[in-house]
This record gives sequence, C-alpha cells and structure tokens, in this order.
Amino acid sequence: MIIDTHCHLDFEQFASDRKDTISQAEKAGVLYFINVGASLHGSRESVRLAAEYKNIFASVGIHPHHATGDTEGALGEIEALAAGKKVVAIGEVGLDYYKSPSLPPVQKKLFVKFIGLSRRLGLPLIIHNRSADCDTLSILKSECAGPVHGVLHCFSGERTFLTKALDMGLFISFTCNLTFKNAGNLREVAKYVPLDRVLLETDAPFLAPQAKRGKRNEPAYITELRDGLSEILGISKDEVEKVTSENAKKLFKLNI
Ligand code: NI
Repeated sequence: MIIDTHCHLDFEQFASDRKDTISQAEKAGVLYFINVGASLHGSRESVRLAAEYKNIFASVGIHPHHATGDTEGALGEIEALAAGKKVVAIGEVGLDYYKSPSLPPVQKKLFVKFIGLSRRLGLPLIIHNRSADCDTLSILKSECAGPVHGVLHCFSGERTFLTKALDMGLFISFTCNLTFKNAGNLREVAKYVPLDRVLLETDAPFLAPQAKRGKRNEPAYITELRDGLSEILGISKDEVEKVTSENAKKLFKLNI
C-alpha cells in the first residue's frame, strides 16, 4: 500500500478525468491521497474532494507564490476549513525565492502565521521550500519551541540542510524528481534519510518521473519513485511501501 502524501487532484489538469486518475492510482497500489491546498480556492477544493472520496484527505494552506499582504480574510477561512474532520495538515506553506511573484518579507509574514495556526490546531505543517533554506530553518526554529511537527515536501536540498532538518524533527518527502537522470546529487543525499522519517509524494500534476518526463504527473506514477528509493536505500519495494505508509499514518494521524 502506498500513500501519496502530496498531490493536487483539484487542479484543472484533472478536471476531465479525475475519477479515472484515482482508480488508475488505486490499481497501482496507491490507496490513500493527501490533496494539498495551494491557495484559498485550492484549500476549499481539497476539503470538497476529501468529502467526495473516502480515500482522500485534505491539507489547507497558501503556497508562497500566492502570498499577498492582504490575507487576513483568507487566513480566517483556512482556519475554519482546518476544523474539518478530514483535514490532516496545514500546507502547502513556506518560502519560495525562485522567480516568485511574491516578495520574501510578505512570504515570511504569512509563513509565520501558518506556523502559528499549525501549532494552535495541533496539525502538522507541509512545508514548501525553494531557494530559501536558511530562512525556512531559522523561521521554524524561532517559531517552534522544540521539535517541528511537519514535513519538508519535495526535498531537493544538500546534505547539510538535510541534517539540520532532521535534527529539528522534520520528516522528509521525496517526489518523482528523485528519478530524474540528472538527480545524482539528490540520490546521494537521499541515502542519509532515516527510514522512520521518509515519505513519498507525487506533487501531481507536476514533476512526472523520468519515464514519463514532460507529461502530466499522476499518483499512479509514484511506483517509479518507490522503485528508485528502494534502490537508493537498499531495501525492498515492499519495505519502502511499509515504512513510508507507517510514517504518513504517524505524522498525519491518519485513521486508516
Ligand atoms: Ni505541491
């Protein structure tokens, strides 16, 4: 059994064949999904999908690209959505300094607010970090007393960043970019992730694995990531499924 801990099935790329996409994934062994809200609209849609499908859970948040100075109303609504029974996390939230339309100070302010919300509600954070390693870690450190309850999604950092994140208590989630031909460095770093901290995700519709590169990504394609990780970690495919599912259940308190 595989749990895709980060996908965006609410996106328009799945508008015409969402049901099919989900059943294809189920056939591939992906039995549960966490649909991650990237905006206020996406958070509403995530909650709606979780109500519609038994095996979908929701996360609510605003991606740093959508951070604006005027998010008070959105934050209030996200807090209300977060009270839903199937909402298992706050995210995706964080920092993205790579060609972002949103300025770093605005992103930081919003990130701090979401960390506060996650702590108040006791829900883990799904953290998006791109080209902002130092700020991400220092904000988490200053806002969280003790271990950080959450996951670094789409991990693609260096070994030193990995060590610091693990020391802070974070889980590490890999996407299918781990299978890219040119991802040798990332595969090297991935060897050092302990088995009790690793998660699988697709981030579909983004980042299709090497064999499907350039296409729309789907949760069913996560098997290529599982196979790649099995090789990197030197454990069987079954073991990868087992440990990553146990970790997902633990972090997101999935009642399955
Ligand atoms: Ni995402």
